[in-house]
Amino acid sequence: MKTSRSAFFAACLALAALPDTGVSASSDKANELYLESCVSCHAFNLEGGLGGNLADGLWKHGSTDGDIARVISHGLPDLGMPAFGKTLSAEQIRSLVVFLREKEKSTKTKSSPPPQPKEGGVVRSIEHAYKVEPVIDADLTTPWSLAFLPDGSRLVTERPGALRIIDADGTLLPEPVNGTPQVIELVQGGMLDVAISPDYATDGWIYLAFADPLPRDEKRAMLKIVRGRIRDHAWTDEEVIFQAEPDFYTSAGVHFGTRMVFDGGYLYFIVGERGGNMQAQDTSRPNGKIYRVYPDGRIPEDNPFAADKKAIPGIWSYGHRNPQGLTIDPRDHAIYSTEHGPRGGDEFNLIRKGANYGWPVICHGMNYDGSPLNAGLTAKEGMEQPLLHWTPSIAACGLTCYTGYKFPNWKYDFFAGGLRGELHRIRVQNGKVVADEILLSGLGRIRDVRTGPDGFLYIVLNQPDRIVRLVPAE
Ligand code: HEC
Repeated sequence: MKTSRSAFFAACLALAALPDTGVSASSDKANELYLESCVSCHAFNLEGGLGGNLADGLWKHGSTDGDIARVISHGLPDLGMPAFGKTLSAEQIRSLVVFLREKEKSTKTKSSPPPQPKEGGVVRSIEHAYKVEPVIDADLTTPWSLAFLPDGSRLVTERPGALRIIDADGTLLPEPVNGTPQVIELVQGGMLDVAISPDYATDGWIYLAFADPLPRDEKRAMLKIVRGRIRDHAWTDEEVIFQAEPDFYTSAGVHFGTRMVFDGGYLYFIVGERGGNMQAQDTSRPNGKIYRVYPDGRIPEDNPFAADKKAIPGIWSYGHRNPQGLTIDPRDHAIYSTEHGPRGGDEFNLIRKGANYGWPVICHGMNYDGSPLNAGLTAKEGMEQPLLHWTPSIAACGLTCYTGYKFPNWKYDFFAGGLRGELHRIRVQNGKVVADEILLSGLGRIRDVRTGPDGFLYIVLNQPDRIVRLVPAE
């Protein structure tokens, strides 16, 4: 037990009532570190006494994560900031950086909150004024994904297991489609993504990705993908597109992924790491990977691991944690994904053939309890860096490259949702993120974001469960 003066000071103060803007006396490890080593000079609300303000977003000594880590490690001897490089490990310092970023964000959110649109109210964002319009307001249970059929009707998945139809008039049909696959709603699992074949007009295929229970052991599940057709309100002609070996089914209820997109005659899809951590690095295991297959499930011969006898040949990229956003930029056919990090370290990635996205060897976040992750490594040779990381996390879910015509200045921008309720507009230019604007928050947990064929931007929400769309207000 350390009995330094500052730790004692911190422990006494920790018992006092704490302001809600500051640190708390919880069992959060990063919080504990702060109380032990930093609070004496930077204060509970991080506004600083002897030391400077650490939550106002003004970084006098450099604003990148690297700058902040360097100050903590080397100190600022002339100013009285001690060096912690000998007493704290690199991973502890990394977790403090994540912690400070969380506080910085909550100060920023308080002083200039992102737009919280009211029904019918106009929001003026950087490029466009928009309004939020209800699409489906009631009778949905944890909607997860939305897809558009050529006749103007739409399909919605509900996580407990149903596939619902919104007809061309906009009415949500009360009866789900009959005979869809049995799914298990295991924590984060259930009926997840739905996608329409690009040749739907001639082939009629609809793709479903869901948590599949093992027949002989219902408590173990894995992501499975099938395609089928809807005839007379019933699911028919089912074919399996992706299914893992029974050994890979697990009782973990987390990190199924998933999303499906089509491009250039291929189907791309995500299988989350299912809580398997290092298994994401192992190409002989199905979890923590993005796949490329033909629409009928066959494996393209030029897939990056097709010739590797030990690898699963459908794998396109690996080292993923739990991506739940996947989209294509139609201009150059580049694939983009958003991925849930742990606490901090949510990622926006450009997905390259055969590349390793680093989980869990590198990551910009920390464990949920504030303890550091691995070696606190955020970069390593041979592992991809995200184009953007969100620390603190937005709980990234749902991603679309906007291809509509109703918001011309948004064309080809990316819209990323998050379960924390924020919708981000991201602009990529020459391979770099040049804008990340929070377009809205406060409508609920954003589960899915889609460009509608009508050019409106559709958002699937949970808590409350509904679908809305952004329409121009100019
Ligand atoms: C003994 C007092 C003291 C302690 C303990 C202390 N700091 Fe500091 N810290 C300072 C001073 C003084 C500065 C310089 C303030 C200035 O530039 O005005 C500073 C600056 C910083 C900065 C740079 C801020 C900026 O604007 O760029 C960071 C980051 C920081 N401290 C983090 C920490 C963390 C994290 C801890 C705990 C591990 C910690 N400090 C513990 C005194 C302290």
